[in-house]
Amino acid sequence: MILGIGTDLANIERIAGTLDRFGDRFRTRVFTETEQRKAERRADIAGTYAKRWAAKEACSKALGTGLRMGIAWRDMAVRNIDTGQPVMEVTGWAARRLAELTPPGYAAVIHVSLTDDHPWAQAFVVIEARPVAGAPDRVT
Ligand SMILES: CC(C)(COP(=O)(O)OP(=O)(O)OC[C@H]1O[C@@H](n2cnc3c(N)ncnc32)[C@H](O)[C@@H]1OP(=O)(O)O)[C@@H](O)C(=O)NCCC(=O)NCCS
Repeated sequence: MILGIGTDLANIERIAGTLDRFGDRFRTRVFTETEQRKAERRADIAGTYAKRWAAKEACSKALGTGLRMGIAWRDMAVRNIDTGQPVMEVTGWAARRLAELTPPGYAAVIHVSLTDDHPWAQAFVVIEARPVAGAPDRVT
């Protein structure tokens, strides 16, 4: 079953401006080391950050919280597997929220898809709950 969906469009020029203005303060507050490493070795640094920014916004929507003040952005993080496909990893408050959403007997899977075409970066996030084999307390 689907537990949540979220989408976001981020303006790459706006992210480039924020990077220029706030530099490492913005980088380290919002992005994990893995995300920073990926972006900083790319030709399109701002575009890579913008896709990950959009992914965090989309994930917060899929989690049903949206972006509140004081949110820990790094608790929603994008990593790429060997094929290049992005995966979303949640920790802290985002992991707790995901656990609250997930019915007993199910495991949550977060799907994320990213794209960019200057000046826009876009993300979709779908949260799926999959039945756990043999779970005794599953709600149907
Ligand atoms: C996946 C692919 C369609 C991306 O298309 P694109 O027009 O170049 O780029 P877009 O801007 O639309 O999307 C880029 C995003 O696609 C995502 N992506 C990359 N590979 C992906 C894959 N295998 N599956 C799902 N999503 C993928 C990434 O999130 C990427 O952004 P990121 O690297 O910053 O995380 C293209 O790279 C492709 O055909 N790759 C397959 C061939 C290949 O090179 N394989 C290598 C490993 S097997």
